[in-house]
Amino acid sequence: MYNKIKLIHGPNLNMLGIRQPEVYGYDTLSDIENLVVSEAEKLGFSVSCFQSNSEGAIIDEIHSCYNAFDGIILNAGAYTHYSYAIRDAIASVMLPCVEVHLSDIHSREPFRHVSVIEPVCVKQICGLGKAGYIEALNELIKTHIK
Ligand code: DQA
Repeated sequence: MYNKIKLIHGPNLNMLGIRQPEVYGYDTLSDIENLVVSEAEKLGFSVSCFQSNSEGAIIDEIHSCYNAFDGIILNAGAYTHYSYAIRDAIASVMLPCVEVHLSDIHSREPFRHVSVIEPVCVKQICGLGKAGYIEALNELIKTHIK
């Protein structure tokens, strides 16, 4: 038990606030990260935040969680739909990982309906906007860590 959670965002999520606000809202990535950090603090956890547009960098970050973090919250962006390498990285570290999406991927284009990472995550939360991250935090801490 390290009392530490890793929050990982994938490609194009550094553009939150600018990128398609009608789909993703007006909050920036920093707004979301700050929210997760402060909610986690109330539960006695610290959160380390990471964002990358590169698949390999995300995989390296997931690996770095092994023997160092209690769990992962991951919005892998479009990699969700086709990165078997990120899926394998999650399975490799054997940590509980909650998959989060701001939008409801199941009611959008067909290619977004499939998540190749879902089978190695403890839960998928989508369509709740930033509130989905709070639900992910609670799920991770209350059900899978404590
Ligand atoms: C997303 C949904 C993905 O389909 C998309 O590629 C994203 C963001 C979401 O948070 O709703 O980049 O993960």
